[in-house]
Amino acid sequence: MKFIKIISAYLIMLPLVSCQSTPGDASSNVDRNIETLLKEMTLEEKIGQMNQISPPEDLSQIVDLVKKGEIGSVLNLVDPEAINALQQIAMEETRMKIPLIVGRDVIHGFKTIFPIPLGQAASFNPELVKEGARVAAVEAASQGVRWTFAPMIDIARDPRWGRIAESLGEDTYLTSVLGVAMIDGFQGDNLNDPTSIAACPKHFVGYGAAESGKDYNSTFIPERTLRNVYLPPFKAAVDAGAATFMTSFNDNDGVPSTGNRFILDQVLRKEWGFTGFVVSDWASVSEMINHGFAKDGKEAAMKAINAGVDMDMVSGTYVAYVKELLNEKKITMQTIDDAVRNILRIKIKLGLFENPYVDISASSVLYAEEHLLKAKEAAVQSAILLKNDNEILPLNESIKTIAVVGPMADAPHDQLGTWIFDGDKNYTQTPLKALQAEYGDKVRILYAPGTAYSRDMRTEGIAAAVNAARNADVVLAFVGEESILSGEAHSLTNLDLQGAQNELIAAVAKTGKPVVTVVMAGRPLTIGRDAEVSEAVLYNFHPGTMGGPAIADLLFGKAVPSGKLPVTFPKVVGQIPMYHSHNNTGRPYQGNETMLQDIPLEAGQTSLGNTSFHLDAGFDPLYPFGYGLSYSTFSYTNLRISADKLKTTESLTVMTDITNTGKYDATEIAQLYVQDCFGSVTRPVKELKDFTRVPLKAGETKTVTFTLPMEKLAYYNLDMNYVVEAGEFKLWVGPNSQEGLKTAFVVE
Ligand code: GLC
Repeated sequence: MKFIKIISAYLIMLPLVSCQSTPGDASSNVDRNIETLLKEMTLEEKIGQMNQISPPEDLSQIVDLVKKGEIGSVLNLVDPEAINALQQIAMEETRMKIPLIVGRDVIHGFKTIFPIPLGQAASFNPELVKEGARVAAVEAASQGVRWTFAPMIDIARDPRWGRIAESLGEDTYLTSVLGVAMIDGFQGDNLNDPTSIAACPKHFVGYGAAESGKDYNSTFIPERTLRNVYLPPFKAAVDAGAATFMTSFNDNDGVPSTGNRFILDQVLRKEWGFTGFVVSDWASVSEMINHGFAKDGKEAAMKAINAGVDMDMVSGTYVAYVKELLNEKKITMQTIDDAVRNILRIKIKLGLFENPYVDISASSVLYAEEHLLKAKEAAVQSAILLKNDNEILPLNESIKTIAVVGPMADAPHDQLGTWIFDGDKNYTQTPLKALQAEYGDKVRILYAPGTAYSRDMRTEGIAAAVNAARNADVVLAFVGEESILSGEAHSLTNLDLQGAQNELIAAVAKTGKPVVTVVMAGRPLTIGRDAEVSEAVLYNFHPGTMGGPAIADLLFGKAVPSGKLPVTFPKVVGQIPMYHSHNNTGRPYQGNETMLQDIPLEAGQTSLGNTSFHLDAGFDPLYPFGYGLSYSTFSYTNLRISADKLKTTESLTVMTDITNTGKYDATEIAQLYVQDCFGSVTRPVKELKDFTRVPLKAGETKTVTFTLPMEKLAYYNLDMNYVVEAGEFKLWVGPNSQEGLKTAFVVE
């Protein structure tokens, strides 16, 4: 607060009320304003706009830089008074009076924390995901943050990669739809609304394909795969009006994204017409020296600017070298002006010129009741029921005593998941506390964690857990990962439950009491043996602030699980990468292969058959993409399509009847997959092309209709043309990527 005292000593503090921002300028007005500003700006001021810093604790150290216009943006400053004070210098003490833009990683909530994006993806509910992003925007903007470094829409097919937690999963279509939902939620109906924050789809591009799932590692994605798998979510983001983009750390086929002119200029600007601005990732400009792509900071700055990176996040290379690079004609003034235009355009669209200050007199919206309720709804819909033998769930009135065990039962910090800069664990409602508060009057709750945290190897606490199990009718085992075990730079080679959690589950299962294993993790884990000894498994990708009440309601049937897996669960790490939209290969798995233990002694070289599988793990995953159970059951009947031959310009109407054949009102997520049977290149065995949530009362039947435009079947073919190729297609509608009713049609 020292800084604010210094500032207010010689600044007349304007009444910091947020004045009504003028309605958004039409683009011609915006461009006119930009040109007016640009004409007046000095080179130093232009370079300043391209410079983002993470400010020191003592903000007075950067007052002069702000006054000279050498800083265009700050990140990781969330004190509204400090933001207003810095902003006031920018608006009152500089020559050009250009507002700062304040950025922050608001990935799955600001204060009210929602499930991690991988969890939200399991809801297959774009509206709910949008509402979650809206809540995050309202809370962040109320503190002066008007730009978030999200959504993260990297396609992630490798659960060894810690950042799979931040992703929306393995599927291009699901990621595209939900990424747009987040952008819509963050940016609202109008970017210059004071509750709107600029979105920043990231990391552009291909970061999730890091070799061996090791974060920051090189990727080798050929252009056709880039265009068919990794780029579409970003294209959808541009079409949705995303205000900014962030480059990725990885070098793809030898070219770091931060210096990759093909993706930043050819694709993003020329092909897609993106008019926002591009920010580097943290110091990714200067990290091109480590890549061996630039010999020093000056060359790194040159390569980044010429590739199309408008703003340098914290490396300081733009401020240090742009003037020199200009003098040496290694970059042009046009390039600098274009970068500054892009940045000014977003600042104008955000209304920052008319409305640079945050209204600190407004009543707090942080942790508002409706925000917490929305976060609970998201946690409910993000939970995936993977197993439920003997209908042990929902817990019924025969259950008088429950044993609550496991290190995640009461872990308020870890339940929030990764990328929580502003979430406060003191607001977390854990499963233990929720069970005690909501159901403690109905059942007796015996609590014995067994181990203290997910990596805890000590086993002396397990005896108490076993004892609790012996005295209970059912055991609820809350296991998983501490939040730090996923997220950036947290990649793993072993996806088994850490510490002594396996032993804990095995020990309580040995009592013969039914075990319900509730997982909270940042990624798919190889939980096959834990699931085997559990009657039921409820999987939650770190469910956030309201995870406890959500899980408690699910366990007791006040809510019914509907989540579906947005990512494939391998049986063992050795199967990775593993995803549903794989190619068929020339020797596809047949299902009758001889597995390791069944191989006869002295077997001849060709005695086992030659197909694509692993002798020790087979072919199938532990759980497939799109999989998830309910307390009810559903039947799919009467699949019919509007035509069996179509032109590429036509649309296919697909209908099926879905019946809730169980005894609970529930929601099914029906999924539509397509296979292009023969292409000019090999095509995936299945691709998700649509999905819909179908609420059904017990016994109810609904006809579900999908409309599939043939243009949705377009892809980049052998000649790299984006076309729908004529030929035979198969189509499925079902509950996951492995089951469903099947039909076929032909595109002429
Ligand atoms: C990090 C991340 C990026 C984040 C940025 C700012 O290293 O890669 O996702 O937005 O730095 O925190």
